[in-house]
Amino acid sequence: MSIWRVQGGYPLDGSVTIQGAKNAVLPVLAAAILAGSEVELTNVPRLRDVEASLDILRHLGCEAGRQDDVVNVDSRGLSGCRIPRELTGQMRSSVIFLGAILARCGQARIAMPGGCELGPRPVDLHLAAMKALGAEVSLEDGEIVCRADGLTGGHIELALPSVGASENAMIAACGAKGTTVITGAAREPEIVELQGFLRALGADVDGAGTDEVTVRGFSPVPNVGWRVMPDRIAAATVLCACACAGGTAELRGVEADHVAGVTEVLRAMGADVQAVSHRLRIRRQGRLRGGQTVVTRPYPGFPTDVQPLMMAASLKADGVTVFEENIFAGRYRQAGQMARLGAKIEISGRRAAVTGVERLHGAQVLAEDLRGGASLIIAGLGAEGETLVTDPGHVIRGYEDLDKVLNSLGARIDFTK
Ligand code: EPZ
Repeated sequence: MSIWRVQGGYPLDGSVTIQGAKNAVLPVLAAAILAGSEVELTNVPRLRDVEASLDILRHLGCEAGRQDDVVNVDSRGLSGCRIPRELTGQMRSSVIFLGAILARCGQARIAMPGGCELGPRPVDLHLAAMKALGAEVSLEDGEIVCRADGLTGGHIELALPSVGASENAMIAACGAKGTTVITGAAREPEIVELQGFLRALGADVDGAGTDEVTVRGFSPVPNVGWRVMPDRIAAATVLCACACAGGTAELRGVEADHVAGVTEVLRAMGADVQAVSHRLRIRRQGRLRGGQTVVTRPYPGFPTDVQPLMMAASLKADGVTVFEENIFAGRYRQAGQMARLGAKIEISGRRAAVTGVERLHGAQVLAEDLRGGASLIIAGLGAEGETLVTDPGHVIRGYEDLDKVLNSLGARIDFTK
């Protein structure tokens, strides 16, 4: 069990560089299987989920290694098409490998990804996408089994703008004969990033960032290099940390429009946020204003991943801040832990009403998922005294050195792994 020991009451001041994006690099690592040659990725964050992906690639027979922020993957030696439970258990999003393995091997067996702390994580849209490309799909002994004597391009209609299913469909379509049109696709920046990487690998892909993506074909380009985009959720985490702790922070290497939904809410709450080319500057002095209603939606709406983080920033805001979580059912787990700090949060169904309190007091709390854990660390910045966040390893799945990043801005966090 890791411990994040947070001393509250220290306003932030300083400048940080934002890590590479977890939710961009994971599908890119899966898509590297398509290359059949060496791929070099730079700006790769040091995260448990990245290490889990490299383990999966090695298990499949690829070579995969890291040197600082550079990761090399050579999929020439790909020999396996099965990902066992002991590997899918480490990373729920391992289903993202399905399309790549199927495209390369003509079959894939992946142990069903467990549900996770956010509630059930169905994969029906992923499987429907594989079927639309001509694969036979079945569930055998808790494993997803896909078989295809060659994939054929077709129309994939996503009933929900699922990020992972959109990515799986794009990757698998690169292995299909003919054109594939994906309608109802997710529009997240990570989808646009994946399109860029697939193009670099030699795919003819268009439309990412809209709800219709077309894949016309793929002729592999060897030895591709790719730099991972900045992590918009890590950026939002630092913004919410400053909103909660007070003070100022400058974030380097951020695409301001990727966090527009977040900065809009922070400005409405009274924080001063300025975007200057690839830098964001935030200043929060005085008490934040409540009164906002924060509704999570698929991109470009307010990101579900930032809901717990913004909740932390709202705990001492003046008035009531209402949240409406529309993406994941189990995404208010942090609220019970925040109450131990003195927060006032009422939950009914998808809505949570946060009544701002004068002060929060340090306490021992439990991280129950990745972003919930980060939200408790942020709440501790705004509490009096010491907050102890006990964490079974959630936060390091998605953040590279979150303690060092916040301490470089003046926070006082002692992390014991
Ligand atoms: C991605 O998860 C992100 N993870 C999540 O970030 C993020 O919260 C989520 O997108 C939404 O933005 C990665 O990119 C690795 P979805 P994903 O498929 O792809 C339902 C974090 O903290 N659904 O867009 O798994 C699903 O239940 C993580 O970094 C189906 O019904 O999310 C959910 O309600 C957490 N059937 C909704 O769609 C399916 O087959 C959105 O899920 C797939 C999804």
